[in-house]
Amino acid sequence: MRKKIIGGNWKMNRGAPQDAKDMLEKLIPLVKDIDNVDIVIAPPFTSLTAANILLNTNIKIGAQNMYFEDKGAFTGEISPKFLKALNIEYVILGHSERRNIFNETDDLINKKLKKALQEGLNPIVCIGEHLEEREAGKTKDIIKTQMDKTFFGLNKKQMLDTVIAYEPIWAIGTGKTATPEQADEVHEYIRKLLNGKYDAETANSVRIQYGGSIKPDNALELFQKENIDGGLVGGASLEAESLYAIIKAAVKSK
Ligand code: PGA
Repeated sequence: MRKKIIGGNWKMNRGAPQDAKDMLEKLIPLVKDIDNVDIVIAPPFTSLTAANILLNTNIKIGAQNMYFEDKGAFTGEISPKFLKALNIEYVILGHSERRNIFNETDDLINKKLKKALQEGLNPIVCIGEHLEEREAGKTKDIIKTQMDKTFFGLNKKQMLDTVIAYEPIWAIGTGKTATPEQADEVHEYIRKLLNGKYDAETANSVRIQYGGSIKPDNALELFQKENIDGGLVGGASLEAESLYAIIKAAVKSK
């Protein structure tokens, strides 16, 4: 049985430490008794220290990005070692905004992913197709290529330690959610690919989140689908009440 996982991706919001704290202080008591869903909040780097109020709670801290080197002349970048020093446990890699706005390639994401795993960070790796690709019937081809390249060279243990987030780009921040059936179909396909590349155990064990306009009123029907193990939530993760409603949907969907 896969444990559901809800990630809150704050993107470039709530980056002032007090602003982050205000939200987290509301969220902590709401979710304190939930132990059958993993909860991860990924604030901007500038709020990561404020997020250390989460350290003795059931909410884990995630970063939204990292570089694949330990240290050095990489202006503007953050090392996984710095994240570890702040007790950060998760890192989101390959988000479509990183891919599309900041030109991150599958190859770069693969290097980051291997480094994150080597450093003991839990990666949440995003994949997903553009609208034109879906409309041209190319969704599965795109997903296969991203899987092949982004997860290139991972051994079974590393794959099992990775969370995949399927985020159709046309659904991110647009209010257009994939239907539960559309999402589940791709999740099922991802499991098929994992089965081909690894084995049935890997295919059945890797957690695959859905992401793209998850809201309190559509979360439950998505999370009830067989292959969907929770969600990566952007906009609706910025307020404690809406994120809590989504987390409750994950609890209920068992
Ligand atoms: P959204 O973002 O929930 O605001 O659509 C999801 C994401 O980008 O992870």
